[in-house]
Amino acid sequence: MRKKYLITSALTYINGAPHIGHLAGAMLNADIYARFLRAKGEDVLFVGGTDVHGTKMEVAAAEEGITYKEYIKKYHDLHTKIYEGFNLSFDAYGNTDSEENKEMTYRIFEGLDKNGYISSKTTKRPFCADDNQFLADSQVGGTCPYCGYEKARGDQCEHCTKLLEPEELKNPYSTISGSHNIIFKETQNLFIDLDKMQSQIDSWVESKKGIWSDIAYTTAKKWLKEGLQPRGITRDIKNGFPVPKAGYDDKVFYCWFDAPIGYIGITKEWADKDPKNRHWEDWWLNPENVWHTEFIGKDNIPFHSIIFPAMLFGSKEPWTQVSFLKATSWLNFAGGKISKSEHRGVFLDDALTEFPADYWRYWIPANSPESDDSVFSFESFTATVNKDLNDVLGNFINRVTKMTVKDFGTTVPALGELTENEKELYDELDRLIKQYTNHMEAIEFRKALADLREIWVSGNNYIAKTEPWKAVKVDKARAATILNTGLNLIHLFGVLSAPVMPAKAAEMLSLFGKQDFAWPTDKAEDLLKTLKEGDSFTAPEPLFQKITPERKEELKIKYKEGV
Ligand code: MF3
Ligand code: ZN
Repeated sequence: MRKKYLITSALTYINGAPHIGHLAGAMLNADIYARFLRAKGEDVLFVGGTDVHGTKMEVAAAEEGITYKEYIKKYHDLHTKIYEGFNLSFDAYGNTDSEENKEMTYRIFEGLDKNGYISSKTTKRPFCADDNQFLADSQVGGTCPYCGYEKARGDQCEHCTKLLEPEELKNPYSTISGSHNIIFKETQNLFIDLDKMQSQIDSWVESKKGIWSDIAYTTAKKWLKEGLQPRGITRDIKNGFPVPKAGYDDKVFYCWFDAPIGYIGITKEWADKDPKNRHWEDWWLNPENVWHTEFIGKDNIPFHSIIFPAMLFGSKEPWTQVSFLKATSWLNFAGGKISKSEHRGVFLDDALTEFPADYWRYWIPANSPESDDSVFSFESFTATVNKDLNDVLGNFINRVTKMTVKDFGTTVPALGELTENEKELYDELDRLIKQYTNHMEAIEFRKALADLREIWVSGNNYIAKTEPWKAVKVDKARAATILNTGLNLIHLFGVLSAPVMPAKAAEMLSLFGKQDFAWPTDKAEDLLKTLKEGDSFTAPEPLFQKITPERKEELKIKYKEGV
């Protein structure tokens, strides 16, 4: 059977609007990889969506004064629209609250239970008698025992940043109703016995050494070294999937239990739309033939390297586990913590109104937080857009097409005799395309984008060396060869840029009436013979626009970039 590539990107919480950090964290990298593999002709399924269960969303709904159901619909739709604007090419896209996900959650839970990996424990939890419900840690307010801040939460004091237990708060109250009628009441919840799987998970993680990204492997190992403990998988809150076990049916699964199963649930939802041709089992119960790459932010590592794998192992079905775990660090904002209410930082809806999606799609991986955190600033964004996209790529396209139109009209001139200059260009491109392809395969996008830029630069160097504007005066056939090569370079640049900048790449190819983005495997010499003498092309409007110093200053003020 042909190898299949399953790609998942962390399902995003919808408590609020997404910002550039969300795009950089998982989704954009996953999309670039999916597009690259599709261009190589691979069989790809790219799965994504939103993570809608849990108290975060209940709290956010209460703050907006709408019901939980209304809230998740509103924000799921908002996220979906924004991701479409960024051209994220999910094959299967959904959320964690579907019937299909419930079915998969129950299936895995029942497997775990049958195989003896589920236990129960009684703990005391905050209960509000007026609200008549248990409260999540974050739903309890009160006075911080350390600093006296009156609006601390039961999980953390936002003032002194100390981590808290709800019992520690003085004068506790419900953030839902404001009631002070809080008691600590016993409740019995279910746990997954990770401790029973310690050695199995440990040797499995060990086998990923040198394969997973370093940070994913070392974080997982650190957790294992501390020893795995049973972890609660049910909660006394309202929204979520009811627990299908006698005595627990008034509880729901913890959001982190059904969230990663969401990858499977969303795949099933997609497959069920076309049951003849799509089978979720081909992707999820097919470990021999599927290479599964997960894209996540670094805070999600324990869930994806240990807990979710343990859930799958413990249910004892032949699940497809993660083959390659790609964890990214943070993309921070130069002006400080991104905050919608304080209008600081770049939210994705605003990002799209300021610039075309591809400007962001290029800046982010070119500066992407691969191993260290990195910082977004309009200084850096402006420099990248002006230099790389305008001076290097855009300028190349403009010069070559303008010169050709002037001397040869809108048809591709003839490729004549080749000189050392062309041969040098071919060698350079062969080397760079190989390097670029290797970095894309290894999901090292920061390096890959440096290669892509080098590839564009090689075109500029070629034109600077061959000086077609001079050649045309003394040897028109020579000028024709150079410009033929230049036009073919534009086409090649389009193909190579497509995983990163799909919309701009489509514009580049459409100048020649083409839209075939198959990843190049031929030698550069042959690749640069795609467009032939006499093929017509359209002279383009500039594909990119520079950001003026005035505009840059305006943006810095508008988004509060520490000015
Ligand atoms: N919603 C989580 C977050 O944003 C990620 C969930 S990933 C999943 O941190 F796999 F569990 F869905
Ligand atoms: Zn405090």
